[in-house]
Amino acid sequence: MHPMLTIAVRAARSAGDIILRSADSIDRLHIDQKSKNDFATEVDRAAEHDIIKIIRAAFPEHGFLAEESGTHTGNDFIWVIDPLDGTTNFLHGFPQYAVSIALKIKGKLEVAVIYDPLRDELFTASKGGGAMLNNRRLRVTPQNSLKGALIGTGFPFKKQQHLDAYLKMFRVICADSAGIRRAGAAALDLAYVAAGRLDGFWEIGLQEWDMAAGILLVQEAGGVATDFSFNDNYLESGNLIVGNPKMQQLIYQAIQPYVNDALK
Ligand code: IPD
Ligand code: CA
Ligand code: CA
Repeated sequence: MHPMLTIAVRAARSAGDIILRSADSIDRLHIDQKSKNDFATEVDRAAEHDIIKIIRAAFPEHGFLAEESGTHTGNDFIWVIDPLDGTTNFLHGFPQYAVSIALKIKGKLEVAVIYDPLRDELFTASKGGGAMLNNRRLRVTPQNSLKGALIGTGFPFKKQQHLDAYLKMFRVICADSAGIRRAGAAALDLAYVAAGRLDGFWEIGLQEWDMAAGILLVQEAGGVATDFSFNDNYLESGNLIVGNPKMQQLIYQAIQPYVNDALK
């Protein structure tokens, strides 16, 4: 295993333990509202602190972009961390959340871990080394039409200026596919595309930490990612479409009439 992936796995499992220990006492947590529909608890912060501590002990020169504590400058190695993706689910006891950790070297995604502590599912990838779920190699589905496809998505519940554009996209994908799933943790949605549990996924306005690890997983499982202009500016724009090359293109074509409104 890539030595940096080994450390990322250790950090993700440790953060997962912190999250699970609090899962039965959610009513005792102090909840901060960062902005509309955007919450954080001491669990998010403790998990993030733990991840950074573990990675820093192994690689003291590396930098971080972490959801709760922001940017920590370092060298060309930047760890992109979402300590708890799916906080709203976690706060409601809805069992769909995960730890997401990616490493970028000179801006390129190199290592990814997404850990679902409830199911003990560990999704890992390293650039050129493929994607795995526990010990099993992952592959995106061979689906080649929207008809019959199961598509994941996320609702723009934080930045609601995109709700109208989003609902038009939703309508066309809903009408043409076998179904849409909105499970509430983008990192797991992307891991599920890599694992062939979903045939594709799109969302407006993600943050880099929501998607960095999941994008490498999808790519290493044979899938592709673009932004809403069919380019690779997804980490900056936050607008993301993924799937196998055909499904990614079909989702892009279906939502294309409405993307301009989502770019405003
Ligand atoms: C959120 C989840 C959700 C997505 C949001 C994210 P958080 O992350 O990934 O699925 O729709 O855009 O912000 O706040 O739970 O870490
Ligand atoms: Ca997130
Ligand atoms: Ca989070």
